Amino acid sequence: MRARSRIVLVLAVIVVFAGGLGTRVVLRGGVSARDEPGPAEAFLARRLRHLAIPRRARTARNPVPLTDDVLAEAREHFLDHCSTCHGTDGRGDTPIGRNLYPRVPDMTTPAVQSLADGELFYVIHNGVRFTGMPAWGDGTPEDDLDSWRLVHFIRHLPHEPRAEHPEHHHH
Ligand code: HEC
Repeated sequence: MRARSRIVLVLAVIVVFAGGLGTRVVLRGGVSARDEPGPAEAFLARRLRHLAIPRRARTARNPVPLTDDVLAEAREHFLDHCSTCHGTDGRGDTPIGRNLYPRVPDMTTPAVQSLADGELFYVIHNGVRFTGMPAWGDGTPEDDLDSWRLVHFIRHLPHEPRAEHPEHHHH
């Protein structure tokens, strides 16, 4: 019942916004990826994503205990697979991150840090449809401890020093 009413709500939002009035408000700049998303579009996109993540997934607890080793491993993983878009410091100030649409979010901000652990895990494991955010999880969520380690690292990002612009360091 819950899932169904959620789907109905999402459909209702889509119908209303596809109806003309909304398209103007939400897609002010057309469908180009160059523009900043308007506040309405950004709000709606996050809202829809929030609704699309099942409650059980959202409230999941991180099964990996936080240790220095776990954090070090996650940092390495992040530098290998995530920093091209998200930056070595998670602030998203990279040539790719700035030009994807939607923009790569600054993961040190409350907008991201206020997401539940389970929500961060879900996004890393499954990716975000219609965006540049790929899915990283191998196998089932239960086996995907890498993504949970990355959740620990994302929690740690606000304490990381700000990176210098990596694009200026190419030789
Ligand atoms: C090809 C570029 C790219 C790569 C590589 C990438 N991401 Fe993302 N990521 C994105 C984009 C774009 C978004 C924004 C999606 C949205 O607006 O909903 C995003 C969003 C996220 C979010 C959600 C933040 C929020 O509040 O919306 C998390 C968490 C995240 N990425 C973690 C990771 C991790 C961890 C990795 C590496 C394993 C990674 N990403 C690799 C492009 C990327």
